[in-house]
Amino acid sequence: MTVQNQATATPQHIAIIMDGNGRWAQKRHMPRTVGHAKGAAGVKALLQHCAKLGVKYLTLFAFSTENWGRPAEEVSTLMGLFFQYLEKEMSALANAGVRLKVIGDVAGFPPELQTRIHAAEAATQHNQAITLCVAANYGGQWDMVQAVKNWHAANPTLSANHLTPDQLAQHLSTAGMPDVDLLIRTGGEQRISNFLLWQAAYAELYFTDSLWPEFDEAELNKALHWYATRERRFGLVQTQKLKETA
Ligand code: IPE
Ligand code: IPE
Ligand code: MG
Repeated sequence: MTVQNQATATPQHIAIIMDGNGRWAQKRHMPRTVGHAKGAAGVKALLQHCAKLGVKYLTLFAFSTENWGRPAEEVSTLMGLFFQYLEKEMSALANAGVRLKVIGDVAGFPPELQTRIHAAEAATQHNQAITLCVAANYGGQWDMVQAVKNWHAANPTLSANHLTPDQLAQHLSTAGMPDVDLLIRTGGEQRISNFLLWQAAYAELYFTDSLWPEFDEAELNKALHWYATRERRFGLVQTQKLKETA
């Protein structure tokens, strides 16, 4: 008999709020944008580590709907890094079996970035090793509102009384993906900042003071060891979980 999600369990879906780039750079008397570049450079190794461990979905919060309010130079650096990442890394990632999915209001990005995103998604759509889901111009509130609008567009004759959680989930930007098992936030804050509000309903929440540019494979292993000690009950009591998994 095994207890679900204890000791040896690997999360199927890890989501990360990659926070602390600016503070990492400022501590070193460098512009915040240097922190973003360093943070982006570390993604590849973590993605490979996740794939090796059997994690099937890694969702990274890259740019929130609120981040547009930052200074223009910082916003354009972040756009540039995203563009470069897609240009430089995607073919290697594609060869490694990575499927790219971008969630968020992509229409808000410059046209050449949109084209690059769509091309990378199309080129990797059949890959199966791991899905790298990048949340860009993403907000959990935006996602729920667009899901309701899309549900309504798909069911124009139905009243809102017919809307169920399952149906709404089918219209979220993450449709077809499992819910988040482990939500990690680096950078010391303990808040969700409008990330996957719906999809993290039963996620285990892991907060670390490590800043994103210093969050490496060893740091991820710490989070995974912590996750393995959690008992996930999903609203049930432990004896029920034991019966289900016997
Ligand atoms: C997270 O790092 C990256 C993005 C929000 C794009 P921050 O830029 O928020 O870094 P801090 O929190 O100011 O240190
Ligand atoms: C969350 O970090 C957004 C991303 C990591 C992309 P923020 O730095 O924007 O969040 P707050 O402002 O501290 O809540
Ligand atoms: Mg921050």
